[in-house]
Amino acid sequence: MAKALQVLRSTGLLTKHFVRLSFNLDRKNYGYRNLSMSSCIQSGHEPRFPSADLDGKNKWLNLKLDGEQSKKYPYVWLRDNCRCKQCYHEISSQRLLQFSDLDIDVEANDIHFTDDGTAVIDFSDGHKGIYPLSFLEGEKFPAFSDPLRQLKQELWGSELQGEIPTFQFSDVMTNDDALFGWLTVLHTKGVAIIQNADTAPTEVKKIGDRVAYLRKTCYGETFQVMSKHDPNSITYTGTAIDFHTDICAMYNQPGMQMLHCIKQSTEGGENQLVDTYKVVEDLKKEEPEVHSILSNTLFEFTDIGTDFNDFHFRSSIPAIRYGINGNIKQVSIHFGRHHSMNVPPEQVYPVYSALKVFFRYLYHEKNIVRHRLSPGEIICMDNRRLAHARTKYYIDPTIKGVQRHLEGGYIDWDELSSFYRVLLERRKKNENSN
Ligand SMILES: [Fe+2]
Ligand SMILES: [Zn+2]
Repeated sequence: MAKALQVLRSTGLLTKHFVRLSFNLDRKNYGYRNLSMSSCIQSGHEPRFPSADLDGKNKWLNLKLDGEQSKKYPYVWLRDNCRCKQCYHEISSQRLLQFSDLDIDVEANDIHFTDDGTAVIDFSDGHKGIYPLSFLEGEKFPAFSDPLRQLKQELWGSELQGEIPTFQFSDVMTNDDALFGWLTVLHTKGVAIIQNADTAPTEVKKIGDRVAYLRKTCYGETFQVMSKHDPNSITYTGTAIDFHTDICAMYNQPGMQMLHCIKQSTEGGENQLVDTYKVVEDLKKEEPEVHSILSNTLFEFTDIGTDFNDFHFRSSIPAIRYGINGNIKQVSIHFGRHHSMNVPPEQVYPVYSALKVFFRYLYHEKNIVRHRLSPGEIICMDNRRLAHARTKYYIDPTIKGVQRHLEGGYIDWDELSSFYRVLLERRKKNENSN
């Protein structure tokens, strides 16, 4: 019993103290097999009563855990996801069962639970499927196992002025809770500021290495935003920059951008930020025609030049894109870098009119958050969601050398999401061991 308790706790099904197990096999008509395992836990939690039915008619297992609604696990999926050593390589989290060997008509003939809380299923192909309940507990149809989906996106406008979530560089670098907080905010609000970094071009790379690695582009692993003698981009002059997202000419546009202030100009050079997802929501309600044009017109973005290497990027994408779940997935605007659109000539004026409305929204006071970076600050923004602009800054002709210097770098969303899940797992393990 002590072992059973220990294993059930490790499955996450039990918390502590006392358990009573009883098994009851009840065979019904049309292929039902019913078995229930009841457990009584006296630790301040409600008792939990896992029970299982094999429904031969629908070819799925009904499993009810901890007073939750019954969940359905189709036989073919169970057979495919068997956790026994023969079918599943636990260290690499990869299946060993070849898909070509899977019989999709497989039947489940019987189910029982072992003392340690593992479900064992006898399949018609002669295999005994093994399923820790903690594994089944984390799965369901429709699939909803990615913890990132639980994070709620928080749209914002100018009310975020002065309220951008801030983190300390040393905390983000050394404390997993701070890093987790930063990753959470990037997923929900799409913007955060890291303060008290060193004023040397080393910090952006340190953050990249802390999470995973930086996304290298044609502008290098990091890029320096300062006045250049022969600028290949207006980024490298003191001029104002219109609202945009970075490198729209790449189909795989960089995910999250960091801009680290190493030196700030004496005047100007303020960053302006807009949550384009909020603007898109407003447009959908208030200017549906504009929303439709921006979601359906293919803009031709180009980026041509020489920096880290010689490059010539081109993409043909709408300014507003949705995912298959109907949520906004990406907004791409960089009309300093766009040169054409895939429409017949008579459609050109309506598209320009739609862009005008879009930009009127972007520059509306209710949508803009301003922040003038101080040396040692790093602004971090979702490059697929935030549009950013910069006011012009003053270059004093009497002063020699660099008068304003930001270092930029990107981390892609796959890496940010990956490390969020890693940290979430670490937090769960720590909670369980305490
Ligand atoms: Fe930019
Ligand atoms: Zn197996």
